[in-house]
Amino acid sequence: MTDHDAIETAALILRKGGLVGMPTETVYGLAADATDDRAVARIFEAKGRPRFNPLIVHVADAGAAARVATFSPLAERLGAAFWPGPLTLVLRRRENAPLSLLVTAGLDTVAVRCPAHPVARALLSAFGGPLAAPSANLSGTVSPTTAAHVAEGLGDRVDLVLDGGPSPIGVESTIVKIEDGAAILLRPGGLAVEEIERVGGVALARAGSGAVEAPGMLASHYAPRAPLRLDVTLPDSDEVYLAFGPPPAGAGAVLQLSLGCDPGEAAANLFAHLRAADALVAARNLAAIAVAPIPREGLGLAVADRLARAAAPRPR
Ligand code: TXA
Ligand code: MG
Repeated sequence: MTDHDAIETAALILRKGGLVGMPTETVYGLAADATDDRAVARIFEAKGRPRFNPLIVHVADAGAAARVATFSPLAERLGAAFWPGPLTLVLRRRENAPLSLLVTAGLDTVAVRCPAHPVARALLSAFGGPLAAPSANLSGTVSPTTAAHVAEGLGDRVDLVLDGGPSPIGVESTIVKIEDGAAILLRPGGLAVEEIERVGGVALARAGSGAVEAPGMLASHYAPRAPLRLDVTLPDSDEVYLAFGPPPAGAGAVLQLSLGCDPGEAAANLFAHLRAADALVAARNLAAIAVAPIPREGLGLAVADRLARAAAPRPR
């Protein structure tokens, strides 16, 4: 198929209530018509995702975002500064928003994002409406950054996967909730907090301890099969080491997140390296994955956040 034919085919599948693997600049999404209850229900089924965990609504532009959510002046400023791009805004849902109630899991807020990836933009424009899209992985597993990852994880639960190459940013969008004129960081991600504060001209509050602010931010998430050891400077010979900078001797195998210690490069490599490390542990019968310390600056904050979740005790 030509690119144009593939996009048209994908849009047709979406109009019929199907599911499409959609490349974005952060990770691949599992997209469905956000206005169609049955299509949205299929997303939850395909992922094995709990229904209380709401989805992000992807839109073509700020005008389309304004049809589903109410924008305060602060929200408008952040949208103008960072869209299209890896920022998700949680805003008050419009009462007459043309969205399936499943998308927002009964909340009176909605998460919206305008993605920058050319294939996602082409699909949104061909489809002509809002697309609900969580990351295109089984719930609780490592997020996909290639079309092959999506096919491996979801198989025939997805009707078509568009291949847009590896996701350049590699970690999910940064989620900011706007409430009473304040901006609250719900999830660190592909847009650095420092950038939001500098360009957006706003200080980000951190989500209050206690209440789970983004319902999907369960402790154990993004989990590979092998155990994960964090902040390791001296790896063991039965470990695969994820290095950040020149690696120490001693590991059973080494995968490099970023030789030059660039947190953006580490983010882009993170999920693919976690998968590769998991496969190496299994193939060579090793004990664990050990990860170098990652400074929590720039995209390093999102990398450290995903690693901490991957290392957290697993349910079951
Ligand atoms: O980069 C991304 O954001 C990717 C791509 C595909 O766009 N999508 C993504 O979706 O990461 P997902 O479903 O894996 O993560 C969405 C997060 C979940 O933690 C969910 O709980 C939270 O957003 N969320 C959605 N709606 C919300 C709301 N109204 N209030 C608070 N959190 C919300
Ligand atoms: Mg996800």
